[in-house]
Amino acid sequence: MSDPLWTALKPLVFSLDAELAHELGLGFLAAVSRSRSARGWLEGSCRFGREDDAASPVEVFGLRFPNRFGLAAGCDKDGRAVPALFALGFGFVEVGTVTPRPQSGNPRPRMFRAPGPGALVNRLGFNSRGAEVVAAALSALDDDVRSQGVLGINLGKNKLTSAEDAAADYAVALRALHGLGDYFVVNVSSPNTPGLRDLQSEQALEPLLREVVRVEAELAEASGTPSKPVLLKLAPDLSDEGLEAALAVAESVGITGLIATNTTLARPECLPPEIAAEAGGLSGAPLLERALEVVARIHARVGDSLPVIGVGGVSAPDDARRMLDAGASLVQAYTGFVYGGPRWVGDVVGALGEGR
Ligand code: FNR
Repeated sequence: MSDPLWTALKPLVFSLDAELAHELGLGFLAAVSRSRSARGWLEGSCRFGREDDAASPVEVFGLRFPNRFGLAAGCDKDGRAVPALFALGFGFVEVGTVTPRPQSGNPRPRMFRAPGPGALVNRLGFNSRGAEVVAAALSALDDDVRSQGVLGINLGKNKLTSAEDAAADYAVALRALHGLGDYFVVNVSSPNTPGLRDLQSEQALEPLLREVVRVEAELAEASGTPSKPVLLKLAPDLSDEGLEAALAVAESVGITGLIATNTTLARPECLPPEIAAEAGGLSGAPLLERALEVVARIHARVGDSLPVIGVGGVSAPDDARRMLDAGASLVQAYTGFVYGGPRWVGDVVGALGEGR
């Protein structure tokens, strides 16, 4: 559906540095989040005329999702704009990556657009206000907001934490945030924290995931609530053998589900050379085929025993349907939202609801 306001605003937004535009956009959504009437206005203006949405609720990981489409990690890293993001129509929002202690990430500039192919390259490097600040922000969400969608929290380690101490970092962040998320994600697949992706190797992954699952069970028992889902987010650049090994570990330690995929180090030919030359992870349309392939491979291997959130390059409603056809139970996007604008969310939600 065309969106005249976004069509008018987009050239202005895209004339700004990519990260500055992101900060302004998120700041706006954070401000809207603080006012019930502003949220009502946003919902009305972005979802007007969508009575035929047909967004059907679905149960995955034992959680009830109002629809199958969510915002991927990295957009609202500190949990500042969840109410407005639900108002836009996302059925779930994944906050983070949250690191246990605050850190500023890599030097700027560190986020680059390639509007032609609909892609981004970023090397933010887990800029995070830290688990305590994020916990305070999420504690402020009222029951009304919480009932509108599912809240995931994506966890990472601080840059200066060694690989040997990584499990302790994930555990610290989980302890600070356990009461506040509906599901948690172990992110070992971002390319911008040195050594992080090595944690996907079988030897490193097994003890790390075992510890996170153990701490989650301990926290659930202490609070007298059922265990919460713990998901593993994977890189698209794993070899077939690496993926197979990660799946075997995930199954053996009792992970609830998977997210596939994070950004890629690949540099397809469609990218302008100056963007291809930037270090960092590539997201957006050029990632779609590889992400679909990984989702299909996972689904063929684990069936419905480990439900998958499919993410990577979803730029149009049809892409999201292809994710479901490949075997995903839920779909996320981030880059497609940057290029598609606020009303795009409802377009995708509507398409995913049809025929289901
Ligand atoms: C991301 N992504 C990401 N993933 C994650 O697990 N933790 C993070 O902190 C971030 N940060 C981040 C920042 C930026 C600017 C982008 C574009 C992406 C990855 C994201 O969640 C997703 O997996 C990929 O971007 C692929 O999906 P899209 O963007 O192609 O829909």
